[in-house]
Amino acid sequence: LEKPFQVTFAGGSEGLWKVQEIRNVRGEGLPVVERVAVYEGEAPREAGIWNLRGIVGHARYTGRGEQDALAKVQAGLGRPEALCAVLIPIRKNRKWWDLAQDERRQIFEEKSRHIAMSLDTLPAVARRLHHSRDLGEPFDFLTWFEFAPEHSALFDDLVEKLRKTEEWDYVEREVEIRLRRA
Ligand code: HEM
Repeated sequence: LEKPFQVTFAGGSEGLWKVQEIRNVRGEGLPVVERVAVYEGEAPREAGIWNLRGIVGHARYTGRGEQDALAKVQAGLGRPEALCAVLIPIRKNRKWWDLAQDERRQIFEEKSRHIAMSLDTLPAVARRLHHSRDLGEPFDFLTWFEFAPEHSALFDDLVEKLRKTEEWDYVEREVEIRLRRA
């Protein structure tokens, strides 16, 4: 990654991605919209009914071995066959943010196996993590995934497993936005 950049997910009537479903998983939901537009860098002012912003930047928790393992198998965004996308904005609670970095890492990986478990879905699922908390946004993270329709079940299984982990005990707001390329 050369330089951190901002991404805006604008929910409204425009954009490449058609909304199939918005599931309010935990906490306050998001208004239903027809489409989601993804803007890298500058976004038009008031682009959507809701606009979620995040920064694509450096990793916080990955060790060298994990970084190498991910780099070896991960796929990039925008593959022609990846007609499905899922945007999952997430906010973690006060208890999580009061923990120290080493305690969070312990829960994230040693206890919840977030990376170890997720690696099984690569390269079928491509992903990008956006950090929002330090921008004062309503969510802490905007997680984005792309895959071909035949891998939907693989992705659903992973999400189900992640939501049962100790890491998810700290999630206080989560919305799942299922998209299809228009
Ligand atoms: C597709 C396979 C996946 C892989 C390979 C993966 C991998 C990772 C990695 C390596 C990180 C740590 C980044 C860092 O070091 O800062 C991370 C963070 C995160 N992932 Fe995943 N992940 C996957 C799927 C998911 C899914 C399906 C969700 C949501 C349902 C999710 C939610 C998150 C969140 C919220 C964080 C930020 C955690 C924090 O910083 O507290 N991930 N993921």
